[in-house]
Amino acid sequence: MKKKHFAILPIIACFLISWAINSAFALDEGGCLTCHQYPGLVRLAKKNGVKALHIDEDKYFSSPHGKIRCAECHITVEKVPHAGETEVDCTTKCHQGGKEKKLPANYQSTLKGFHKQEQSYISSLQDESSCRVCHPLYPHSENTLVRGFLNLHAGFMFCEVCHINRNNFNNLSYEWESSENAEFSGIPFGTHYNPQTKKALKHSLHFFSRIAAVETKNGKRHALMNTGDTAKAKAFVLKEKNLNPDEKKNKLTYFHRDIEKKEISVACDECHSTNSILDFNKLGFDQKKTKDLIYLNIKGLVMKYKTFYFPKLF
Ligand code: HEC
Ligand code: HEC
Ligand code: HEC
Ligand code: HEC
Ligand code: HEC
Repeated sequence: MKKKHFAILPIIACFLISWAINSAFALDEGGCLTCHQYPGLVRLAKKNGVKALHIDEDKYFSSPHGKIRCAECHITVEKVPHAGETEVDCTTKCHQGGKEKKLPANYQSTLKGFHKQEQSYISSLQDESSCRVCHPLYPHSENTLVRGFLNLHAGFMFCEVCHINRNNFNNLSYEWESSENAEFSGIPFGTHYNPQTKKALKHSLHFFSRIAAVETKNGKRHALMNTGDTAKAKAFVLKEKNLNPDEKKNKLTYFHRDIEKKEISVACDECHSTNSILDFNKLGFDQKKTKDLIYLNIKGLVMKYKTFYFPKLF
């Protein structure tokens, strides 16, 4: 029993150290922003479509509550993975009276949108792909640990980059496709990379580029995003109710003929590793960002489904 503990301790210690080093957020002792700093981190929600999980570092620290640790209000977030932990208590240390206003008894019901000023995500992006006829822009909902992270990728790459069955294609490369028109909730983000000028403009309002899988066949390059089936997909949606289960299944098999679902255990490593299918430098990422993307600090946690308990800091 003891031995086992000794074997695990160094792993946890290494994780904590690398966590602390990688976390440039001095005030964020809990490391919450390690994951929550990314615009586009969203999960699907029943009522209004998506629930933003992004918290912008600068905006948070300069907000009225910026000096308060996340966990002082979020009293039930004790470990990762966590999901659906919506309980907050604003009276653990503050709002107990005196100089600080005492909160009314029903304050819990008035807290929706508390972080709204600190959150950004894409609220609409029309692309002409068949995928988007049937799937939302943020399409992942099943796996509570990774769905938010997978969803944020939809803001900078097409579905095919991850989902194409690479056995069906030759000479694949990965390149930016030219601009698309996106609507944002919060501050626009992303990259407007122009493959012709090889220049990236940061935060070019509303117009941005996404990475596409590109096949080169007989000397000709063509981006793999399925627009050929879009009309058929729309027709399918219209008459879906009248189809019997077999017909439906056959059609779906057809629409997904080049698509595969990947295991999380391999999916992140296909890009975030030294064997990445993406050439980050060629795509225009600078050296620091390339290194960050290859050695992504949260990857181990996500891929190995390890439970990590936040240290009690107060
Ligand atoms: C002063 C208290 C307070 C602090 C400090 C605080 N939060 Fe929140 N947080 C809230 C409230 C209130 C909600 C809204 C809860 C609800 O909708 O019922 C919320 C919601 C959230 C949500 C869910 C998304 C949403 O918008 O509803 C996330 C994610 C979150 N907080 C992360 C953080 C992180 C990360 C930090 C630290 C950087 C932090 N919070 C600091 C009070 C706080
Ligand atoms: C390893 C990554 C990671 C870390 C570290 C992390 N979170 Fe999260 N958090 C997530 C993900 C992913 C989700 C979305 C889960 C889902 O899809 O339901 C989430 C969801 C949330 C939610 C919203 C729950 C909901 O469904 O409305 C809150 C609140 C939250 N986190 C607060 C925190 C706080 C506070 C900390 C620090 C103590 C923290 N998180 C640290 C990854 C992380
Ligand atoms: C006509 C509607 C339709 C179109 C078009 C479509 N999908 Fe789907 N997709 C579905 C439905 C419905 C499911 C769930 C049922 C199933 O498993 O077949 C699904 C499931 C999936 C899955 C999960 C498969 C699994 O094994 O669990 C992936 C990945 C996926 N779609 C990606 C795509 C991509 C990428 C495209 C564009 C090339 C696309 N889909 C086009 C309707 C569609
Ligand atoms: C960064 C890579 C990546 C991108 C980009 C991506 N996916 Fe996925 N997707 C995955 C992985 C990995 C899984 C398997 C998740 C799991 O096992 O829980 C998955 C699972 C799915 C599923 C089934 C499980 C679920 O979470 O509902 C659907 C449907 C799906 N993807 C559709 C799409 C569509 C449509 C797009 C484009 C809008 C897209 N994906 C873009 C990596 C990606
Ligand atoms: C097909 C390639 C690909 C796959 C697969 C992939 N990623 Fe990424 N990921 C990227 C790229 C490219 C970026 C940077 C995009 C940008 O900043 O413009 C990125 C960014 C991120 C970021 C934000 C980091 C940052 O510094 O911007 C996180 C977090 C992340 N990925 C997590 C994951 C996880 C977890 C998985 C597996 C579930 C995964 N990724 C799978 C290509 C991929």
